[in-house]
Parts: sequence; structure tokens; C-alpha cells
Amino acid sequence: MTLYNIYEVDIVAFDHQGRGIGKIFDKTIFIPNALVGETVKFKLTTIKKKYLEGELVTILKSSNNRIKPICPYFSECGGCDLMHISYDNQLKYKENKVKEIFTKFTTINPSLIRNIVSCNDIYNYRNKVTLQVNNEVGFYKKKTNEIVKISKCSISNDGINKIIKELNKLKSFDNIKQIVIKSSKFNNEIMVVIYTSGNIDESDIIKNLSKHVSSIIKYDNSYQVIYGKPYITEKMNDLEFMISPSSFFQVNTEQAIKLYDLILKFADLKDDEIIVDLYCGTGTIGLYLSHYCKNVIGVEVNEDAIQDANKNKKLNGINNIDFISGDVTKVINDLRVSPDIIIVDPPRSGLDDNIINNLKKYKPNKIIYVSCNPITLARDLEKLSESYNIENITPVDMFANTYHVEVVVYLSLKKVGTYISI
Ligand SMILES: C[S@@+](CC[C@H](N)C(=O)[O-])C[C@H]1O[C@@H](n2cnc3c(N)ncnc32)[C@H](O)[C@@H]1O
Repeated sequence: MTLYNIYEVDIVAFDHQGRGIGKIFDKTIFIPNALVGETVKFKLTTIKKKYLEGELVTILKSSNNRIKPICPYFSECGGCDLMHISYDNQLKYKENKVKEIFTKFTTINPSLIRNIVSCNDIYNYRNKVTLQVNNEVGFYKKKTNEIVKISKCSISNDGINKIIKELNKLKSFDNIKQIVIKSSKFNNEIMVVIYTSGNIDESDIIKNLSKHVSSIIKYDNSYQVIYGKPYITEKMNDLEFMISPSSFFQVNTEQAIKLYDLILKFADLKDDEIIVDLYCGTGTIGLYLSHYCKNVIGVEVNEDAIQDANKNKKLNGINNIDFISGDVTKVINDLRVSPDIIIVDPPRSGLDDNIINNLKKYKPNKIIYVSCNPITLARDLEKLSESYNIENITPVDMFANTYHVEVVVYLSLKKVGTYISI
């Protein structure tokens, strides 16, 4: 076995990152873009004690499930993982992935996992991209710092692709490290954020981009507007949201609306109920639900997101929501309310034990857990299931053509029996 040599292997399984799995030299090998049932030639790129990794070179025997990816960069770019299988198969893969993880890590009945909520448009959906820059713009090749130059990203919306085209015309990329493009689907506003390491040719950037965007922002220790306004806006049904350069906003607006509708359905709110929305970002979930309950408290660590949340509250004329700026791990120790429903939408790391214990202490009638990582979700649900019934687990496809899957879970408080002493 020699690094960078070419070998041949049969692919026998598909892993949770959309990679083909084979067995060679008594070790497991992971090969992106290889499918079950295929025999492939691969370049050996990583040798570890327990496993190997390879790069697909040629397909000797192809799977019937293979389709031609619409993106010319698919085989090199690290952005998408599943564009070589049909959308139906992508959905089956994601449902199975959640089932497998739950079966492996929990005692939860996998029949509670419902059909995945699919996308209408599996391309042109992303409203935000982070481009790497080094005399050219593109995405990192998987697991490397090598840039794959692009002139289009098939899963990003038209606004983003228009800007990528313009960026390719810039005279100089000197001192530009990264460029983030945010482009609202329904309001058609575009923000370009340029992360720098020194002086940049601002006039060339403004000349090329200003006719297409509402906002150009430079980041050099702080955000500075160099053209237009400091935010863009997006619409979700009849609500408007402001999005700043650094604050989180769901990358697939259309699917986010479906996700929030699902939360609304699970919450089944009553006028007198109090909701706590933990990890609230720019306040989108809380604002979406606020019309149907007594009041909402949102908690978020990112100051810019909290500022946006407060502006969003004003923008939409909503008065029954308050935002607390702070770390959920600390804020949860003293919420000073007795919530009927707690919604959590944490980052990939999930919830720590202090948060889980506090959720059990507050005993809300319902918890709605939104997760972008089924593994930490499974771990946390197993702990919560001591006090909560898991009622419904619904995967939502927020990220078509990638291996990522969002999951929403509805939990109801276990009723404690009444004991009569005799
Ligand atoms: C997955 S996003 C959810 C955002 C929001 N619920 C939405 O739908 O747009 C997770 C959010 O948690 C925030 N966050 C991460 N760690 C946090 C912490 N320890 N305390 C509070 N907020 C945190 C991030 O800034 C981010 O806005």
C-alpha cells in the first residue's frame, strides 16, 4: 500500500457524508462520489491506522443509480456530495441516514421518523455562499486549501451567480481572503462582504458590483460599509427580516418557511402560552410564532443577530417578543419565566448537560428541537426522553445535493401519575 498510488476496489456501502465505502488492505476506505455496486479505480490520499481515504479516478463498473451531475465542478468542488444520484435517491439516503443514526445511538422507535420534507427546487436555492479567494474566486476542493475556480454555483440563487460572474472580472484580488455573498430570494437584495488582510482596490469593486447589489461591506477587524446600506432584507410569508453581514439566516428561505410551518404545527399554540426560543439568531422562529401566543423570549449569543432581531421586531410591528443577548448555557440558569414551550435550534454541537438539565427543570409542556446534526440530536433526545415523549421526528431537506439534513423533533412532557396513599 503506497500513498498516491492507484488501486481498484468494489464499493459496498454509502457513509453518512455521502462517500462510497470499500474494503482493501484489510482496512475500510472512503471514496467521495463512488456509489454502492460500483467498481472504481482510486488514488490513495490518506492512510490512517483504522481507515483509508481515496479520490475517485475512473469508474470501471457503474451503478444504475448514477446520474450526470449538472455542475461541471462537482467532481472537484467540496460543496456538494450527492449530485450524482437522483433527487428521490437523495431523499431516501437522508431518511435512512437519520434512521440508522437513531437506531445506533438511541432506544427511540425509528417508526417515529416521518417522511422527509422535500425541496421544490433542488438547484438555485442557496441564499448565501462563502467564496475562497487567491487571485481567483472559488470553493475549496474537499479537505484541501486548493481553490476550485468557479464561474457559477448550481445550487446558489441567480443573485449569487450574477455576482460570481462580476467578481471574475475584478482587476485585483490583492488582500482579499474571502467573499461572502448573501442574496435574498423573495426581496432580491444582495450583500457582498469582503474579508480582507490589508488595503483593497475598493473603487474597482464598487465599479463592478454596485449596479447589482444593495450593499458592499469590507471586514478588517470590523464591518465597514463601502457601498449602500449595512443590511439586506428577506421576506417570509408576511414577515420581513433584516440580515446583517455576520448574523445567521437560514440558507434555504423556501425550505425555512416549511420548517417554521412545521414548528407552528407542532407548537399548536394557545393565546395564553409563553414560548422560549433558544439560539434564536435574528429572531425568525419566535417572530413567526409570536402572533399565535402570549409572548416569546428569544436568546442568542451573537450581538449583531440580536440587534437584527430587535429591528425585525420593530419592522414587523410585533410587541410580544423580547430578545436576550447572551450565551444560552448561562442565560438558561435563570429565565425568570415558566415557559409552556421551549424551542431549541443549536449549532452542530447540540445541547450540553446544563441545558438538558435546565429543560427538565423548567418542564415546558412541549420542546421543539431543530437540529442540523442528527448525531448530537440523537444523543440529546436519548437524555431528554427520560422526561419527554418523542412524538414526531421529521427530517427536512434544507440542503439538496449535499449530505446534510435538518431534523425537527416534537417532544411532549411525560405526565407523572397521581398516587393515592392508603
Ligand atoms: C442554527 S442557528 C439558528 C438560528 C435561528 N433559530 C434561525 O432559524 O434562523 C444557531 C444560532 O445559535 C447561535 N448560538 C451559537 N452558540 C450559542 C450559545 N452558546 N448561546 C446562544 N446562541 C448561540 C448562533 O449565533 C446562531 O445564530
